[in-house]
Amino acid sequence: MSFIEVNDIWKTYGDNVVLERVKTNVHAGEFITIVGASGCGKTTFLKMLLGTEYPTRGKILLNGKPIPQEPSEDRGIVFQKYSVFPHLTALQNLVLTIELEQSRWLAHLFGSAYRLADEQAREMLAMVGLQHAANQYPHELSGGMQQRLAIAQALMKQPKVLLLDEPFGALDPGIRADMHELILKIWNQTKINVFMITHDLKEGFYLGTRLWVIDKIRHDAQAPNAYGATITYDIPVGQCDNSTLNEIDQSLEHSRKEHAA
Ligand SMILES: Nc1ncnc2c1ncn2[C@@H]1O[C@H](COP(=O)(O)OP(=O)(O)O)[C@@H](O)[C@H]1O
Ligand SMILES: [Mg+2]
Repeated sequence: MSFIEVNDIWKTYGDNVVLERVKTNVHAGEFITIVGASGCGKTTFLKMLLGTEYPTRGKILLNGKPIPQEPSEDRGIVFQKYSVFPHLTALQNLVLTIELEQSRWLAHLFGSAYRLADEQAREMLAMVGLQHAANQYPHELSGGMQQRLAIAQALMKQPKVLLLDEPFGALDPGIRADMHELILKIWNQTKINVFMITHDLKEGFYLGTRLWVIDKIRHDAQAPNAYGATITYDIPVGQCDNSTLNEIDQSLEHSRKEHAA
């Protein structure tokens, strides 16, 4: 049994067919990178894995069971725009994740439970290289440090799946390279299943074990929303040569123009 099975899913919003006939299997521990023209349904797909959106047709199974229609600790997500609480320090943000989990209504822990949460949060800060920033507020952190904190937050509940939606898109190239090393370190240590959307094909090839291209192959000039996008390339990264890379590059360029037209 695959860890994740995507059984012929479709996603429509009203008349707008966003995704169609998406079928794939994912094994535990794979690092999947996803590229595709903007608006083709990449974020929608991640949200279906998260459980905040669900397929209009078809099913996504995780360990053989349909993904619950709400986020749970199995899955953590990081968006490009970062998502922690501005009025809490880095440390407090991470402790809060545990407090919310263990004491949903009160969101406070006391005594040994608090000390344990504090310890776990500090370990996580160290893992993402923020041990010196424990008492800083998000606005005092650089963009790269903010994304480190967002990743730490997503990992606090030890999810089996980490969903990354263009997490490094807004960062400078040097910082982005540091983040690549961080995400590879985390993946190597935890063997977590990663799905990462990127608009940078090279980044996708560098980080992933498997690359998907999501694209629309059926078109109706009279009704641009009549057909959805699907997975058009699914390539084990190790087996990709330059000519495949060029082919993908051209297909992406083509659908970007199509989208702009
Ligand atoms: N909640 C929603 N309601 C209606 N349409 C939506 C919603 N979310 C996304 N869409 C539409 O679905 C399509 C795909 O969006 P999205 O998944 O964000 O694309 P991508 O992440 O690939 O840029 C777009 O046409 C977008 O307008
Ligand atoms: Mg998106």
